[in-house]
Amino acid sequence: MFTQYTRPLKFIFDSFKGHKKIFYIFILGKILEGIFYVVLPIFAKMEMDQMVEKNEQLFGFIYLDSFRIFLVILCIIFGIRLLQKILQSFIEFVEKFYLALHQNAYAALLYQRLRYIEFGAFLNAKNMKFINEILGKSDFVGEHMRMFIGDMITHIFTIIGILGVISLINPWIFVVLMASACILYCIDLLRQKIAQKYQFEEDYVYAHKVFIVSQEISKNMIHLISSGGFGKVIDIYKKFNKELQTNIQNRQKSETFLSVFSFSVENITEILVKLFIGYSIFFAGASVGTMTMMLLYISRIDQILSFVRTFRFFRDRFSDDLKKLDLFLDLTDGQKRLSGEKIKSLKNFDTISLENVEFSYPKFAKYELRYLKIIEERIKSYSRIGSAEKNELHAIEEARKDLQEISPKILQGVDLIFEKGKSYGIVGKNGAGKTTITSLLQGFFYRFQGKILFDKTSVGNLDRSFFEKNISVVSQTPYIIQGFSIRENLLLGVEKTPNDQKIWELLEKFHLDKKIKKHRQGLDANIGYDNDFSGGEKQLLTLIRVILQDKPLLIMDEGTNQLDAENELMVMNELLKQQKDKIIIFITHRMTTIKKADVIYCLQDGKIEASGRHDDLLKTENVYHTFWDTQVVS
Ligand SMILES: Nc1ncnc2c1ncn2[C@@H]1O[C@H](COP(=O)(O)OP(=O)(O)OP(=O)(O)O)[C@@H](O)[C@H]1O
Ligand SMILES: [Mg+2]
Repeated sequence: MFTQYTRPLKFIFDSFKGHKKIFYIFILGKILEGIFYVVLPIFAKMEMDQMVEKNEQLFGFIYLDSFRIFLVILCIIFGIRLLQKILQSFIEFVEKFYLALHQNAYAALLYQRLRYIEFGAFLNAKNMKFINEILGKSDFVGEHMRMFIGDMITHIFTIIGILGVISLINPWIFVVLMASACILYCIDLLRQKIAQKYQFEEDYVYAHKVFIVSQEISKNMIHLISSGGFGKVIDIYKKFNKELQTNIQNRQKSETFLSVFSFSVENITEILVKLFIGYSIFFAGASVGTMTMMLLYISRIDQILSFVRTFRFFRDRFSDDLKKLDLFLDLTDGQKRLSGEKIKSLKNFDTISLENVEFSYPKFAKYELRYLKIIEERIKSYSRIGSAEKNELHAIEEARKDLQEISPKILQGVDLIFEKGKSYGIVGKNGAGKTTITSLLQGFFYRFQGKILFDKTSVGNLDRSFFEKNISVVSQTPYIIQGFSIRENLLLGVEKTPNDQKIWELLEKFHLDKKIKKHRQGLDANIGYDNDFSGGEKQLLTLIRVILQDKPLLIMDEGTNQLDAENELMVMNELLKQQKDKIIIFITHRMTTIKKADVIYCLQDGKIEASGRHDDLLKTENVYHTFWDTQVVS
């Protein structure tokens, strides 16, 4: 039924990793629940039969006292239902526990996936909203799965059990049972049909008209007044509004009627049907116990049938969830999966090389179009398409026109090499693609032409943890978590926790020690609550963090842009001290910062235009030369 959703289903089942026991307990619980619904009425029957026997011994003429039998049956049914309720709530409690665990696991997995596209490499305001929506909705998958699959398991076991028991006693009873269940089923279908018929489509039409007219009034008020048309429009508005109100009133009346009607019909028929079963079984020579059992069974079958009735709804909702999840997976790691490359882990590396790399940002529109298509298909599949749905379809059509954009090539054949022990600079105009190169180095994108290699391993083959372990990035907006302590912020992503002395040494060097010592809690003061830092100070904190992280590749993408000249020089010297076993890449528009780099790459028109040391670059015409002239010489 859901065979096309192997990916999302696998994803859901993966989220149970480490929680397998809970999953099995859940399935087992559902099976036991099913068996329970079959077995309990059997106990009731045995109990009843025994009672009737005793009564016969006591009074000798039990068959004549039908009223008393009736009362006893009612009491037993009531008692058993009570017991069922208690057991059910216990099962629900276990289920909730399971669900909470499952949802945690699920959320953790989603979060992990999201990290593939974190740090704004892929997300801009527009697609962020889109992803949030998918992420939010896909969260329900777990719950829908519990309801849908869980109920299905229980019902299947119940119905098999009931069939088995009944065929042992008397197949004829089964026929009566199923016939009456079908009658109830048909009555409910009929009730639904009537309910649908009474829904007023005109509501939407009128509401829409009232909206348009009121907009017209507010937009063109002056025109309307000066042309003398104001009164007329107001009249139209009043007329529409009045019609809308009467329409709503009528609907409310008929809805009340309908709900009273359907309630009576359903309940009266149910009572009649149950009486019918009772008597047919009774006259067929079944015992009072059997009758009780059958009555309990019919109420169960009734519930199963109501599940069957809503089955399509549940199934569709579940498959919609899976569709959304599928989309989400596509957005996050689909590209990697598509390439079919093997994931390797790499301990350390000496060189990073880019060979003839061409890249354009993924056409996000493609995913959005797919998403719109899903919504569109769903709307079109509604049994009743009113004006509200028509409006939605129209909006989708409009959105579709906006999305037919193409993404330009950002890099067009870039060749670069970074070697351990050296520092590098990348210069280029705004939008030249500098940040894009760093995103590629961090493995955010897998679909590009050319090669990006860490030693001999392609970025596409490296697992996520490799990038986390080996790359530190400082970007122009320092990443500080408000509400976390200074210590916690400094130690983010730091593997070997340094002693406090080492932290204080760095703070002193970066001129932050006095400010932090002022607060009684020192390093444990919370940023944003206990202690405030300026933009530059926050940047200094992130720089201390990357020094402590001590990872083999350090990317400074405008990472010192908020520092004053003195601090920047000090930071540069501090970073260059660590250079021996590292690759450091500086991206900045301040030429004096980049001057010291061992190799400077000039990026222009998607290509490396020139490269070399400061002195060499000043000998030819290139971006670096131009920048130097405008910034430093003049
Ligand atoms: N997530 C994205 N989706 C689509 N296009 C993007 C995305 N990020 C950047 N671009 C485009 O790629 C081009 C290069 O951007 P990039 O951020 O790499 O430039 P940059 O050299 O770092 O510029 P700056 O000096 O201003 O930081 C720009 O034209 C930008 O519009
Ligand atoms: Mg940039």
